[in-house]
Amino acid sequence: MDWGMKNRMARIIRPDTGRAVMLALDHGYFLGPTHRLEVPEETITPLLPYADTIMLTRGVLRTSVDPDSGANVVLRVSGGTSVAGPHLEDEGITVDFEEAIRLNVAGVGLSVFVGTEFERQTLLGLSELVNQGEKYGIPVLGITAVGKELEKRDSRYLALCCRICAELGARIVKTYYCEDFEKVTTSCPVPIVIAGGPKLDTEMDVFNMTHEAISRGAAGVDMGRNIWQRDNPVAIMRAIRGIVHENMTPKQAHELFTELKEQSS
Ligand code: R5P
Repeated sequence: MDWGMKNRMARIIRPDTGRAVMLALDHGYFLGPTHRLEVPEETITPLLPYADTIMLTRGVLRTSVDPDSGANVVLRVSGGTSVAGPHLEDEGITVDFEEAIRLNVAGVGLSVFVGTEFERQTLLGLSELVNQGEKYGIPVLGITAVGKELEKRDSRYLALCCRICAELGARIVKTYYCEDFEKVTTSCPVPIVIAGGPKLDTEMDVFNMTHEAISRGAAGVDMGRNIWQRDNPVAIMRAIRGIVHENMTPKQAHELFTELKEQSS
């Protein structure tokens, strides 16, 4: 691996733990003003110190993140569709590499929609991004998106998607946690991070899912709604960080969460 690629990978996956805490803030690229991300700066600023990287669009980066903050950025570079349109899966590449370099990104990410009528276009989009990313030393994050069909998230389907992303050259893959998750991680030769998905019932559910994912081979999280759509997002984020980087159990993470919540009230 060349120095630039290595350096950027180290900004995403901490070399001392081999793990990653990524904060996903890119939802507005197809959902618009998502609940509790209506004013991005207000949501992002308190969480920034606890994220190894933030994942978001160039628009929110420029308008809502202080360039002096030292934030490491994984830039969302696919889009072109919205929740109001007929085909969420009909995405293309939205940002060129000059722009990504200008923004000093640690990596770029795009969604692939395997098994849909747009799989070819999105997989070729991933390949094109990898061609450019490898040229400039910028890792590509392949995101195994499922659009509105959340029930697709089983290990057979996600293993297929993750492996294809890795085969096409993604340096990291983001997917969902699922039953038999080790089937997904063992057959994917690059690190996997998990999205959180829609808001879970309790904080303990979030800690359990994070812990299970790590125990079954995930390299970390790229989580959004289960952090910032909940009350006490900083406490949640710090507890998740404890699981990912310090091997805390869900119970220890919950104790830390409760302690931090009480301190802030
Ligand atoms: C889709 O909107 C994006 O890829 C999100 O970054 C991803 O789904 C992770 O966010 P969440 O944890 O809210 O699912």
